[in-house]
Amino acid sequence: MSDYKFLQPYTFKNGVKVKNRVVIPPMTIASSLEEGSVSRDDLFYAGLRSGGVGMFISPVANVTNDGKGFEGELSVADDKYIPGLSKLADAMKKGGTKAILQIFHAGRMSDSTILRGIQPVSASAVAAPRDGMETPRELSSNEVEAIVQAFADATRRAIVAGFDGVEIYGANTYLIQQFFSPHSNKRTDKWGGDVEKRMTFALEIIRAVHDAIEEYGNDDFILGYRISPEEIESPGIRIDDTLKFIDKLSGQPLNYLHISMGNAWRKSLNNPDDDRYTIQRIKDQVKGRLPLISVGSIETPEDAEKIMDAGIDFVAIGREYLREPKWIDKVISGHEETIRYSINRDALDEIGLNPSIIEFLKGLGTELGYEGEQKGDGKSEYGVVLDS
Ligand SMILES: Cc1cc2nc3c(=O)[nH]c(=O)nc-3n(C[C@H](O)[C@H](O)[C@H](O)COP(=O)(O)O)c2cc1C
Repeated sequence: MSDYKFLQPYTFKNGVKVKNRVVIPPMTIASSLEEGSVSRDDLFYAGLRSGGVGMFISPVANVTNDGKGFEGELSVADDKYIPGLSKLADAMKKGGTKAILQIFHAGRMSDSTILRGIQPVSASAVAAPRDGMETPRELSSNEVEAIVQAFADATRRAIVAGFDGVEIYGANTYLIQQFFSPHSNKRTDKWGGDVEKRMTFALEIIRAVHDAIEEYGNDDFILGYRISPEEIESPGIRIDDTLKFIDKLSGQPLNYLHISMGNAWRKSLNNPDDDRYTIQRIKDQVKGRLPLISVGSIETPEDAEKIMDAGIDFVAIGREYLREPKWIDKVISGHEETIRYSINRDALDEIGLNPSIIEFLKGLGTELGYEGEQKGDGKSEYGVVLDS
């Protein structure tokens, strides 16, 4: 077996041991049933990829019905979903992989077609600055409290379903980020205002989720948080705000911080004169208080090892894990030369992907890298949204 550092185990502060540093990041594969239940395709996708990696984060699940962001998305908005989620947790946990359920609310990134006639909601009534986006309805203070509670309820369901943890999705322009962003949050009540006040929604969700873990789970339940460092719109989130937020997050009852970028080695999106790697700046700010997961255009074992060499604790491999469900198994068994870096459309069944993924990826503005076609260059992000 090779001696890559990413194959070494990791032990969280709560004593939970993860068998290696490779993570499958959350990827919506557009294959859940229309009302949000786990489908057989979801189970096949998960079972095929589990067993080798240390942690496997699920496709995102919406915590309320109006939080749905995509067709074919998982839901955790009601107890009726628990039996299906339980099967998904089992498929993901195979072979000792830690199974994490990612939970979110899409906010203004949804639309009334996906919500079947209902207007999307957000911190304020400001549409996302993209073609065709609908203006959301501003949430009342009581509704904000109800969404915080929905994250806690989702966590209880994840615990009952047998997941090893949850990841709060505070990244990629969805509702939690909308509350942190000065573009989408113009509120003057306790949920809006200066940078500190714009953190309130996220911090309240962390508190509520942590309380749910104390009440229904136990000490070994993992709580992660995913964040995007910057937005490009103006006004928008800038790295200085994010570093303040990261400082605050580092003092929260979290087990890890997941930094969402389309390229792990990205520099500032807004300041071309800044030559520092964003991940390095975040690491310096965290000062070892929380382990970090880095993600973005990591494909080869050498790419993954470079993340370890930079002192980052975990490396997440997304699109490449869609193409190659046996990535780490092939590394461990010494068959690296057989790792697939492109796929043939005819191989979708074999790699556990539904044809609906193709249209879904087109909608996101990204691609998987098909044989004979140009492969993703790491610049086409998770939709236009990944980096903003
Ligand atoms: C098909 C697809 C679906 C995704 N779904 C999610 C999701 O549900 N939640 C999330 O946080 N990120 C999602 N992402 C972003 C990935 O987790 C990851 O950050 C991104 O693909 C960059 O990593 P990569 O270059 O290794 O693919 C998705 C990406 C893709 C390609």
